Amino acid sequence: MNDKQYKQAVEKLNLWARHYYVLDDPITTDEVYDELYHEVLAYEGQNPHAIAENSPTQRVGDVISDGFTKEKHLSRMWSLEDIFDSDGLKKWLEKTYRLDKNISFYCEPKYDGASLNLIYEDGKLTKGITRGDGSVGELITQNVKTIRSIPLTIEYKELIEIRGEVVIFKDEFEKINEQRLKNNEAVFANPRNAAAGSLRQLDSSITASRNLVFLPYGVGVNSLKFKLLSELMEFIYTLGFIKPPRHSTCQGYEEIQNIYELMKEERDSYEMMLDGMVIKVDEIASQIDMGYTVKNPRFSVAYKFPAVQKITTLKEIVLQVGRTGVVTPVAIVEPTDIDGVVVERATLHNFDEIDRKDIRINDKVIILRSGDVIPKIIKVLTQERDGSEVKFERPSTCPVCHSELLDEGVLLKCQNLECEARVINSIIYFASKPCLNIDGLGVKIVEVLFTSGLVKSVVDLFDLSLDKLLKLEGFKEKKSQNLLDAIENAKGCEYWRFINSLGIEHIGEVASKTLSDNFGFGFIDATKEQIMACEGIGEEMAESVLEFVRVNKEIILQLQNILQPQEPVKKDEAKENPFKGKTVVLTGTMSRSRGVIKEMLESLGAKVSGSVSKKTDFLIYGEDAGSKYDKAMTLGVECLDEDEMRKMIV
Ligand code: IVH
Repeated sequence: MNDKQYKQAVEKLNLWARHYYVLDDPITTDEVYDELYHEVLAYEGQNPHAIAENSPTQRVGDVISDGFTKEKHLSRMWSLEDIFDSDGLKKWLEKTYRLDKNISFYCEPKYDGASLNLIYEDGKLTKGITRGDGSVGELITQNVKTIRSIPLTIEYKELIEIRGEVVIFKDEFEKINEQRLKNNEAVFANPRNAAAGSLRQLDSSITASRNLVFLPYGVGVNSLKFKLLSELMEFIYTLGFIKPPRHSTCQGYEEIQNIYELMKEERDSYEMMLDGMVIKVDEIASQIDMGYTVKNPRFSVAYKFPAVQKITTLKEIVLQVGRTGVVTPVAIVEPTDIDGVVVERATLHNFDEIDRKDIRINDKVIILRSGDVIPKIIKVLTQERDGSEVKFERPSTCPVCHSELLDEGVLLKCQNLECEARVINSIIYFASKPCLNIDGLGVKIVEVLFTSGLVKSVVDLFDLSLDKLLKLEGFKEKKSQNLLDAIENAKGCEYWRFINSLGIEHIGEVASKTLSDNFGFGFIDATKEQIMACEGIGEEMAESVLEFVRVNKEIILQLQNILQPQEPVKKDEAKENPFKGKTVVLTGTMSRSRGVIKEMLESLGAKVSGSVSKKTDFLIYGEDAGSKYDKAMTLGVECLDEDEMRKMIV
């Protein structure tokens, strides 16, 4: 790659990334992106002084700060007055029309996240500042650079402040909380807290891992010449920022009210959380005339959606037994209407959460429901207690099969493999979307199949016949045939689905894809070392795979024989080079961060490990190398400085 090709490659990567992260319309595959990314990385490794400012490698979160410095916004970040209903809207419109009759409005979502000010100078992102008190915030540029929907460079060269909200999409939020539960950490109450917390991490690699998203809603200091805010925003979107899922210009009460109703109805289907709609006067000259009160702009208002939090009473805690035997507590609450949906159950996650929040039966609690986010108890109102509250006793036996539970601290587990709840849930899981995607195998039908004795394990599904099904209550010919067809359709599935459907503990969709890509049908013969060498798979996961295969090898082969999944094509391997297949340890300060060098070596097929042992093939050291260097010397591990390493690659 020469300098020109390098620059073109960076442009191409940015275009691809923009289609992926901003336009939600990928135009290449991850594999092609990764390949070019690694070529760029290798070029930068050899030409550290020629690295482009907008290179995607500059987003790697590897900066650890020991605190954030305060930074003044170039112009104040205002907040908005709230209105809550159509009366509020009418009053606000009257007031606003009194200031100026000839106005129209621009409506867009009010995102629920953390506000952020971006400063671009000469087309480069130079500062990212949290809102703070509106005048002064905290400088978090390093963290901001890890957010993929924030362009590092823009085509517009004048000084500009671009403002927006940093959010976490709902599905990502659920994933983070699942992970936190596994690590025995407290869960985030809502996506807003998760976004705000992630943005202010001192270790920017944590921010990078959270998949934050930036949604622009306005500008501060700028010298743009647009007459209308709607035009100005269109221009901002063209610079490489995400467009709102719905935005629109309109006039008068009726039109505004209609868009509001529409957005409220649609909001569950949006990826991000909204807490209302923002109405802004579209004419920028009128905005300037109207000006500000002490706190808020007069030309804008937040029309809030009905609350998604409600106070209710916790009536009971019931226990559910999942397919892995984990017993989860679920709160049954006094039915309460939250934004049109009657909520009766809320998740409690696990028994530690009950202790941590000191949740007692009869407590008054605040529950949150929003979109796809499962209703949850976010707060216990302890000041409301009257003595009638009862502590919840941790169970010692399975609520379904009554066998003794294994107490693992955070988790309680039913150990009985034949426990009805476990079997039924594992069949449902086997048939679910990310597994074999068999339509029609929901809770009710599986329960009937199980209790009738027809299906005692997943293998039995493939022995079902029309005759057998028609004998069951409620099974007519059409329904039965549809079910049989759906089961038949599962044959010839992708191999990762097959792996995922086995329900191996700690192995979900992503890990199943990794195992399928790396080993194909050979996954049942892979060794612990081979499995751990796969990206994203650690020791606990590898052990879980091995143990599962050891116990269930026959059943796996039997199922594979029935299902005849497709053998995946293995990934291209790295070209021959001295680091391929070798274990490498990095230490000391090098010309590039260790994260970048690690990625480069991994792209060459090396495994980069954290500590030196007899198995280490190379230690690569920078300045101020310490104990790892000494240990490598004692063990006779080959030590290379950065230059020597680079010479071996070319
Ligand atoms: S405009 C000049 N638009 O809500 C007015 N704010 O309550 C400045 N927010 O601090 C704000 N979505 O963090 C505006 N589409 C949107 C917004 C939005 C979310 C947040 C923002 C602001 C707060 C005001």
